[in-house]
Amino acid sequence: MPTCRICGTPLHTFLDLGHHPLSSAFPAPAEAPGAACDAFRYRLAVGRCERCALVQLTDDIPHGYRPYPGYPYHSSGSTVMREHFRATGRHLLRTELSGTHTPFAVEVGCTDGVVLRCLADAGVRTLAFEPSGYTGHGGIRVHRAFLTAASAREAVAAEGPAQIVYAANTVCDIADLPGLFAGLDELLAPGGVFVFEDPYFGEIVGRTAFDQFYDEHRYYFTATSVRALAERFGFRLVGIERLPVHGGQLRYTLARAGRRPPSPAVAELLAEEAGRGLTDPAVLAAFAGRVDGVREDLVALLEELHAAGRTVAGYAATAKSCTVTTYCGLGPHLIPYICDSTPAKQGRLTPGARIPVRPPDAFAAPYPDYALLFAWNHAAEIMARERAFRAAGGRWILYVPGVRVV
Ligand code: TMP
Ligand code: ZN
Repeated sequence: MPTCRICGTPLHTFLDLGHHPLSSAFPAPAEAPGAACDAFRYRLAVGRCERCALVQLTDDIPHGYRPYPGYPYHSSGSTVMREHFRATGRHLLRTELSGTHTPFAVEVGCTDGVVLRCLADAGVRTLAFEPSGYTGHGGIRVHRAFLTAASAREAVAAEGPAQIVYAANTVCDIADLPGLFAGLDELLAPGGVFVFEDPYFGEIVGRTAFDQFYDEHRYYFTATSVRALAERFGFRLVGIERLPVHGGQLRYTLARAGRRPPSPAVAELLAEEAGRGLTDPAVLAAFAGRVDGVREDLVALLEELHAAGRTVAGYAATAKSCTVTTYCGLGPHLIPYICDSTPAKQGRLTPGARIPVRPPDAFAAPYPDYALLFAWNHAAEIMARERAFRAAGGRWILYVPGVRVV
């Protein structure tokens, strides 16, 4: 029986989406299916810890698996996200947050470094802990390691303690959270804060956004579970903010126990989660039922369009699309290609479903009748940029929070 990675208590599995390839394993067309980088499968099932309420994948996934050089994630790839991260930089610069005009700021898992760049431009001393070796950091200093007690001690010996540690879309992917907290304990100044943002399980349930479940999201946090997690490791949840990006995230602020009172927003959200019964078995069972319903509706719509001779293309070969295509059994027969702006994905096939990935130019040459939008979290930006598609009679297919054509 799968158990909680934090407290060892058995997990209550409430959703099982079957066996999936890794969401970043884009094979080259010449790779034979059985031997290709997307041949590996893991069971994509989600459970809730009966004791600490932490929602997590039930199965372990080999960490750090990168099928080819040039791991395709760039945090600032969209205009909205670039602006979000600049605003995040301004938020982190507020003196009320760090307690000083001259903080030392550290980011954990900075990918392309957009937040630290913003802080560095404001004269703040910065350092990133980024084990991936990704080098597009625009002059940001990178400590090529995970944040652990040992790597934090090295950094503190050389640079002193940090007033701010920040992470976006990273903590939810860190298998060893006790190790992360041990690192924070070494790294943070006594009055320092740890600020992190990740997809919010409350939004996943509220929107039936089951495609947020994939190998690189191991944990799906709530205010309730983050409070318990922080307290287990000597910290307190003192701040919470809702973020509209990526389909609904929460930004948590943690401080050492006894250093800061929690903001009213913390108690408000804890009460809201309790009122919703967010992780009650009945609520989770109803959620799993809605997920099934989305699959039925989406497959029915695509088969109907196919039978009627309408053309359908995918838009954005996201990690989320891997969950959708695998769980719904979609392949090139229903979606002959997906257009995506990431050069490293173009010319390759999507994981498992083996749908060819084409560059964005291919979208208009000619336009399909319908486009299935896998980057629904960027819908406003994409639909505005591609308004000529609708003007030419094209229609978008969305599946969050339910299947609809717009
Ligand atoms: P992610 O949701 O897994 O982070 O990946 C975003 C993917 O979507 C990435 O492969 C780039 C692609 N994309 C586009 O192709 N066009 C766009 O306008 C946006 C915002 C993303
Ligand atoms: Zn637990």
